Amino acid sequence: MKYVEVSGKKISAIGLGTWQFGSREWGYGREYTEKTAINLVHRALELGVNLIDTAEFYGFGKSETVVGNAISGLRDQVYIATKLFPIFPVSSMVLARAKASAARLQVDSIGLYQLHWPNPLVPIAETSKGLKELLDRGLAADAGVSNFSLNQWRRAEAALGKPIISNQVHFSLLSRGPEAELLPFAQANNRMIIAYSPLEQGVLSGKYNSANRPKGMRSARKLFYPANLDRVRPLLDKMAQIAKGHGATSSQIALAWLIAKPNVAAIPGAATLAQLESNVASAEIELSSAEIEILNEVSNQFDPIGPGALLTDLKTFVRRS
Ligand SMILES: NC(=O)c1ccc[n+]([C@@H]2O[C@H](COP(=O)([O-])OP(=O)(O)OC[C@H]3O[C@@H](n4cnc5c(N)ncnc54)[C@H](OP(=O)(O)O)[C@@H]3O)[C@@H](O)[C@H]2O)c1
Repeated sequence: MKYVEVSGKKISAIGLGTWQFGSREWGYGREYTEKTAINLVHRALELGVNLIDTAEFYGFGKSETVVGNAISGLRDQVYIATKLFPIFPVSSMVLARAKASAARLQVDSIGLYQLHWPNPLVPIAETSKGLKELLDRGLAADAGVSNFSLNQWRRAEAALGKPIISNQVHFSLLSRGPEAELLPFAQANNRMIIAYSPLEQGVLSGKYNSANRPKGMRSARKLFYPANLDRVRPLLDKMAQIAKGHGATSSQIALAWLIAKPNVAAIPGAATLAQLESNVASAEIELSSAEIEILNEVSNQFDPIGPGALLTDLKTFVRRS
């Protein structure tokens, strides 16, 4: 395993995302939540993962409960990251909700307490008061944010008066926005970028195409439009080619590309133990700078259609039929 060192801690560069645990939108069912999820956490820890990411929002508390049960007796091995869903995040609410998360996780102190999204109505100074109290009382070891722009991150830090050590953002070969400002800031200031949806919910594994799309929530996402699954094929082909040279898979190349960057940890979710093991093994892959450059170039060429174009396609289809 490779580790990111931040805030005096060694955090595994591959973590485990647990939105899938107990969340209907993923449709993995009861056996997954009751059995597979627990096995995933145990196997992850065995393999040197210590970053487990959850949120009060996932399965409306179910994910935290499953993680809490799974880490029973293993708490000292885990850096638990959970998140506050930003409904009315005034300071008293931050404290109350963090305590409820800690109770579900069965911990006295949460490793990383993150604001899930910025809240445009409640001033960050107010939310930060609650965060500060959490840190001062030892109810959380570190504070983080998620889906914050650089300005929002800096403002949150200024309000807190302490480092906000991480920003969890959508970051992958198909979502490269964080490279512009967030990543340079993290690298220059001993902060961490936690990359979510690093496999684009399965797209970057190469297993989906316009004739084989996942059911449920994912099928409505722009990247899963049949036209976009066609458009991403040149990148997937290049990834498969690079993967072959490393005796690896496309998913592993997607993760290796991310964690080759200093101060980045990725938190892929997993449907099976085999996926988890493969994701963890990506930490052993060293991509050459030439390979990274090719992946950058080909990913830059991806030009997805949006919902507007989908509607135009549909209208043309209806007119013609
Ligand atoms: N902060 C935020 O706003 C936010 C937003 C989204 C996610 N997150 C966090 O980030 C975590 C990861 O993001 P995500 O779950 O959206 O997407 P992801 O990690 O990109 O995709 C996970 C899905 O990809 C497939 N997969 C995983 N490993 C694979 C492998 N080795 N080979 C083939 N397929 C594989 C599995 O689905 P199938 O096998 O069913 O295809 C799995 O459920 C979440 O669990 C959550 O903790 C945070």
